Amino acid sequence: MEATTTTTRQQFSTTRIVKFIFVLACFFISLSGRLLFRIETLKFDEHYNMPSYRWWYDASKSNSNNDNNVVLVDDIDETGHDVQRLERPMPLSIVKVPTPIFVLTLPKGGSTTIHQYFQCGLGIGASAHNRYPYAQSNKLKHVGITMRDNIKQNKPLLTVDNDSLDKYQIFSDYDSFKGSLFSMIDSLDNISKFYPNSTILYVRRDPSDWFRSASNFGSLLRRFRSSEKSPLVESLFSPDSPTRPAAMNETHWTTFYENYSDYVRKIGSEHPSLTYLEVPLDSNTDTVMQERIGITKQCWGRANVSSKKNETKNSNDTAIKNEIDSTKRRGPIALPRNWTADTFS
Ligand SMILES: *[C@@H]1O[C@H](CO)[C@@H](O)[C@H](O)[C@H]1NC(C)=O
Ligand SMILES: *[C@@H]1O[C@H](CO)[C@@H](O)[C@H](O)[C@H]1NC(C)=O
Ligand SMILES: *[C@@H]1O[C@H](CO)[C@@H](O)[C@H](O)[C@H]1NC(C)=O
Ligand SMILES: *[C@@H]1O[C@H](CO)[C@@H](O)[C@H](O)[C@H]1NC(C)=O
Ligand SMILES: *[C@@H]1O[C@H](CO)[C@@H](O)[C@H](O)[C@H]1NC(C)=O
Ligand SMILES: *[C@@H]1O[C@H](CO)[C@@H](O)[C@H](O)[C@H]1NC(C)=O
Ligand SMILES: *[C@@H]1O[C@H](CO)[C@@H](O)[C@H](O)[C@H]1NC(C)=O
Ligand SMILES: *[C@@H]1O[C@H](CO)[C@@H](O)[C@H](O)[C@H]1NC(C)=O
Ligand SMILES: *[C@@H]1O[C@H](CO)[C@@H](O)[C@H](O)[C@H]1NC(C)=O
Repeated sequence: MEATTTTTRQQFSTTRIVKFIFVLACFFISLSGRLLFRIETLKFDEHYNMPSYRWWYDASKSNSNNDNNVVLVDDIDETGHDVQRLERPMPLSIVKVPTPIFVLTLPKGGSTTIHQYFQCGLGIGASAHNRYPYAQSNKLKHVGITMRDNIKQNKPLLTVDNDSLDKYQIFSDYDSFKGSLFSMIDSLDNISKFYPNSTILYVRRDPSDWFRSASNFGSLLRRFRSSEKSPLVESLFSPDSPTRPAAMNETHWTTFYENYSDYVRKIGSEHPSLTYLEVPLDSNTDTVMQERIGITKQCWGRANVSSKKNETKNSNDTAIKNEIDSTKRRGPIALPRNWTADTFS
């Protein structure tokens, strides 16, 4: 009798121990999964400084208010990102401003949406965003680093020996943080010198909105503050800006954003041969872009920046899920690019 009870008790406690170990194991497995995913996401941010692409074009929303004659199709761009584009892209000649177009908009200021807009309207390979496939090495190369190397050698910004950077027509988000910071405004002198007839496009966002969005985006602001940078970029920080990134407050950053924007505007308007186009980022941006650029506004992001902020908070949002899926599935990769100005003419 007593022996049986002891056995039962022993069995009972063995079961408990096994259960406990099992639960503990599950806990650690799920924790390490989460950690790995988090590390992957951080790496993705750090290495590529790429805004996530997918949620701007949630396919489920795309058919709701289309013009009948505008058909969007899913595609993969030459850097491996899922995108949408016109089924029949428009010829370059419909663009109402001179090319090349240099988009000086800061990361988190709307630069991805602008890139998507041109890529959607003119076809994949028309717009270079952050990196481009460098055919000679089959790898992605950073647009800003190529430009910086060219500046060092006093060559036109877009020169690449027998490669494709100069075949692009639109350039956006080419700040490079590798080594010292190469900011897009560090290219402005050379733009006006080597591409005097080009366009500078600046989509200008509300500074506080930009700050909120940028401060939620990985280490972007920290890198802006702590990187070694040109005297020009340093001068955009107000004199009372702390050198320690963590000590920077909203006012310091909105001042930086405003100084940056004013500088771009100043260069744009000081050089009469350049076309300077400044568009505020708001609910009307798509219409203004259609009027001033000429590409249909159906190509402008479905989710504008303010609705995106809301989406971010809702963890159930399908767009966010898609975005996580797409970063899990495929990091940026170099794919062949064969777009030229004549491809869709
Ligand atoms: C580029 O192409 C030209 C002729 O097409 C060739 O002479 C030259 O060696 C090439 N340069 C490089 C760096 O491949
Ligand atoms: C290109 O930019 C660099 C750095 O701003 C400057 O030193 C150089 O003079 C510029 N080159 C030309 C031709 O304007
Ligand atoms: C810029 O445009 C002017 C006037 O149309 C022209 O004379 C000049 O050659 C152009 N410059 C370049 C570099 O294309
Ligand atoms: C940036 O803004 C601050 C504060 O308004 C000002 O002190 C500073 O001179 C500005 N710098 C530039 C380059 O405009
Ligand atoms: C940020 O710090 C500066 C002093 O460096 C101060 O004048 C300003 O009011 C602060 N702004 C905020 C929003 O705290
Ligand atoms: C963009 O956001 C504004 C609110 O800031 C909203 O009124 C508008 O409907 C939004 N537009 C689209 C296309 O989502
Ligand atoms: C966020 O969404 C709520 C409703 O879901 C809406 O009332 C609010 O205006 C939105 N905020 C922004 C900034 O779009
Ligand atoms: C998420 O979706 C589930 C199931 O559809 C629902 O029960 C839950 O309330 C949703 N949560 C939020 C925050 O929307
Ligand atoms: C680019 O080339 C690939 C094969 O080389 C071809 O499948 C694809 O259709 C081409 N894309 C365009 C836009 O011409």
